[in-house]
Amino acid sequence: MSEAKRLAGEKAIEYVEDGSIVGVGTGSTVAFFIDALARIRHRIAGAVSSSEQSTVRLRGHGIEVLELNDTGPLPLYVDGADECDPAKCLIKGGGAALTREKIIAQACAKFVCIIDPAKRVDVLGKFPLPVEVIPMARSLVARELVQLTGGQPVWRQGVTTDNGNWVLDIHGLQIRDPAAMETAINQVPGVVSVGLFAQRRADIVIVGGEPPQVL
Ligand code: A5P
Repeated sequence: MSEAKRLAGEKAIEYVEDGSIVGVGTGSTVAFFIDALARIRHRIAGAVSSSEQSTVRLRGHGIEVLELNDTGPLPLYVDGADECDPAKCLIKGGGAALTREKIIAQACAKFVCIIDPAKRVDVLGKFPLPVEVIPMARSLVARELVQLTGGQPVWRQGVTTDNGNWVLDIHGLQIRDPAAMETAINQVPGVVSVGLFAQRRADIVIVGGEPPQVL
């Protein structure tokens, strides 16, 4: 599977514009993208990173990491996903970086999602849906999520996000209307963000393989 991830990550380099600042996601597939980006680092102006993990890897390759507040809108965001449906809606947040990922995806003109074939599904929800919550609201939000979704939220104990918050993973979902569920979960007080990327979904999906498939 890591070969498929590498092939997807390397293919995404074709979308990087010379002289641009690149939005960079998080995860094992993105790690391959960062390694490929290092080979063309003289052609880019830097990166905006969605996690401490990606920042360390980018800087390790000598790529400058910039603040989104200083860059303004960006042309390209490259990130992985935990699940991807035929409409290019995604579940993300398996690595707990969903909020920063969502912010950068929103700031970018084009979102290229890089996945291995196992991430493709007909209906989102087999992968537990991550929700980042303010710590004091954890149990309130969990009760609300049961009512709202019919799924079973489970606290990802021991994990604190880069923003100092906690994560609930909702098990047992079949998400037939991802945009509606995204809106509904976003309304619950204490929710910071939900790992459904439906309103700002991927524009292009690269499925790693020989050759990579571009959807
Ligand atoms: C990080 O929070 C997630 O959204 C990642 O994008 C996702 O988990 C990536 O998966 P891979 O590690 O399989 O690329």
